[in-house]
Amino acid sequence: MKERLQSIKEEALRAIEGADMPEKLNDVRVKFLGKKGELTAVLKGMKDVAPDERPKVGQLVNETRAAIENILEESKIKMERAIREEKMKQEVIDVTLPSKKNMVGHRHPNTIALEEVERIFIGMGYEVVEGPDVEYDLYNFEKLNIPDGHPAKDEQDTFYINKEIVLRTQTSPVQARVMEQGKLPIRMIAPGRVFRSDEVDATHSPSFHQIEGLVIDKNISFADLKGTLEVFAKELFGPDTKTKFRPHHFPFTEPSAEVDVTCFKCQGKGCRFCKGSGWIEILGCGMVHPHVLEMCGIDPDEYTGFAFGVGLERIALLKYEIDDMRLLYENDIRFLKQF
Ligand code: DAH
Repeated sequence: MKERLQSIKEEALRAIEGADMPEKLNDVRVKFLGKKGELTAVLKGMKDVAPDERPKVGQLVNETRAAIENILEESKIKMERAIREEKMKQEVIDVTLPSKKNMVGHRHPNTIALEEVERIFIGMGYEVVEGPDVEYDLYNFEKLNIPDGHPAKDEQDTFYINKEIVLRTQTSPVQARVMEQGKLPIRMIAPGRVFRSDEVDATHSPSFHQIEGLVIDKNISFADLKGTLEVFAKELFGPDTKTKFRPHHFPFTEPSAEVDVTCFKCQGKGCRFCKGSGWIEILGCGMVHPHVLEMCGIDPDEYTGFAFGVGLERIALLKYEIDDMRLLYENDIRFLKQF
């Protein structure tokens, strides 16, 4: 019996030595110590052992079991340590390597200019609102006094989705949307993207941005419009800036005007920048047409108002003296970093 146990132990040791994975160790455990294992078989054979020998044999079996268990446990620990060390070797981190640079982003000149314009108007109590880029013909044209057949609706410069839906050609439809909500008085600006079927060149792009302005209240006059835009121009281009209102025509305002500011490069003397005139055109504006007020549910006998529309790119180009609009859309970091 003793020899049998000794040979089981030796066999188990050999099996443990041959195991190269933790799973194999487990197989060894099952084979020798399991319910149907070899040691259990020995215990089952105890009935053939003489009764006074049994305690001794039992003790021997237990010792053998304990020995095998110990070695199994030691091997398991050793094996796991080896596996961990191998893994560590493969996952080595070289802390002396140079770190990856974290590129900090930069606001686009358009965004900087827009935030400046928003700051000025928010300071005068205006709200900033938004309208959809894809707009009903009804809002983009009809409610702004631009009926069917009007040249502003020309397919040459409007992207039509279908007969009723267009990519908005201006931010002015937001005027109609806000007026229709019927919450008076109104003092808002509406920045956003607009679309026109234009060829790309230094001053044109099929997609650009405008900032619409609208004020509706009792007793609003052209003087309010002039005063407001004068403050705006001085804030944006400097306190010495003068403004000039030239009569113009827009279908949704009456009277209408275009506004020029004194060239901030030559202070009005005339230079290459203002093409010698001393003035630079910056926006269109006017008193909201009574018919537009009516179409948007506002009584023109009780309320009046003014509106204006500024090209955002135009402001950015002027403010940062950029001479080609395409630079704004090329996303060249060397260009963008300068502002
Ligand atoms: N929507 C006009 C355009 O795109 C700009 C404009 C002119 C807006 C006069 C206005 C305005 O609100 O009163 O050319």
